[in-house]
Amino acid sequence: MSNGSETPQRAYGVATTALHTGRETTPERENSPPLFLTSSFRFDSAEQARAVFAGEEEGNLYSRFTNPTVALFEERVAALEKAEHAVAAASGMAAVTMVFLSFLSAGDHVVISRSVFGSTTNIANTLLKRMGIGVTRVPLSDLEAWEAAVTPATRLFFLETPANPTLEMVDLAALARLGRERGILVVVDNVLCTPCLQRPLELGVDLVVHSATKYMDGQGRVLGGVVAGGRKLLMDHVFPLLRNTGSSLSPFNAWVLFKGLETLPLRMERHCDNAERVAAHLAAVPGLGGAVLYPGLPDHPQRELAVRQMRRFGAIVCVDLGSRERAHRFMNGLKLAIITANLGDSRTLTTHPATTTHAKLTDAERQAAGITEGLVRLSIGLEDVEDILTDLDQALESSL
Ligand SMILES: Cc1ncc(COP(=O)(O)O)c(C=O)c1O
Repeated sequence: MSNGSETPQRAYGVATTALHTGRETTPERENSPPLFLTSSFRFDSAEQARAVFAGEEEGNLYSRFTNPTVALFEERVAALEKAEHAVAAASGMAAVTMVFLSFLSAGDHVVISRSVFGSTTNIANTLLKRMGIGVTRVPLSDLEAWEAAVTPATRLFFLETPANPTLEMVDLAALARLGRERGILVVVDNVLCTPCLQRPLELGVDLVVHSATKYMDGQGRVLGGVVAGGRKLLMDHVFPLLRNTGSSLSPFNAWVLFKGLETLPLRMERHCDNAERVAAHLAAVPGLGGAVLYPGLPDHPQRELAVRQMRRFGAIVCVDLGSRERAHRFMNGLKLAIITANLGDSRTLTTHPATTTHAKLTDAERQAAGITEGLVRLSIGLEDVEDILTDLDQALESSL
């Protein structure tokens, strides 16, 4: 901490926060945060090692526990989510699993939205059930269903809003209120929005999880995950499990993600600008109108809720082309957009959820989640929007 620079106050705007949080330097006075690619840390003496292990002296001891580069990433995510603290994990799924394992024991019950990422559904159906944890799946936006699913054993609500890939939403403030009244922890996967578009903690939610692999990296390079929320909740429950089970974020990935966060606010604006244009363009294609899913479209049934709790409408646009065959023809016809099972990249990506990310769900689960055979997910990138529109037009034409 050599040059006396101070970490900016939370009063700074989101772009400044993303750029300047964690700007203390080492004695080398570097201007870009260094990468501490080390598995362990040295001690000056055996006595110091004992004191650090005993928690009597602060300091890093082993990178499965803490690492300065990972800590910088955590600090920046916490600042953006307006959280007291954040704990990083090796991937988004590591973060989701840590939350379940940190707060649920045999005999407990969890209520999970039926519109969550495929691997989250798989964990609920396999690991949680095998551990003797009761699972009830509910329609995301139906607050009465959440309330009706609560039992005396319910410990946790888990959801994504907007959900991947159907973009269904729930009233976060109302669900957080229900959780608080019943003493239930409410956890939101905020991947599709990032803190630039939605801050669930400010609406009363207890914890936010992220796949940092998506927009936080933003360039499709590394895996990462993070949980943000109250310091005590995280340090008493999530951090001890993570440090002992070892799904810690690698310092290299943390460094990439940390730098990715610097441009997150700027990228999210451009992602949203492009997605709004794409959604409006597709909705105007004869015969596609009602088949385009995007919360910002004037006729989206939950547009008013999106306006209330999201700053903008995000960058995922879905279109239902009616059949798997046409969906695949459309995707194969794209020349610019890339077929891959990721989202949140700088480049426009496309996925067929029913046969990839959500393929392991049962037919009934897919149907309940609104994932039809014709549904194509577009993760709109940062290209010149006219080029994206031209690509979509020619692929639609060739899919007929
Ligand atoms: C909403 C959501 N949550 C969690 C994950 C899992 O993240 P990761 O691939 O980093 O484990 C994904 C991945 O696509 C996702 O879309």
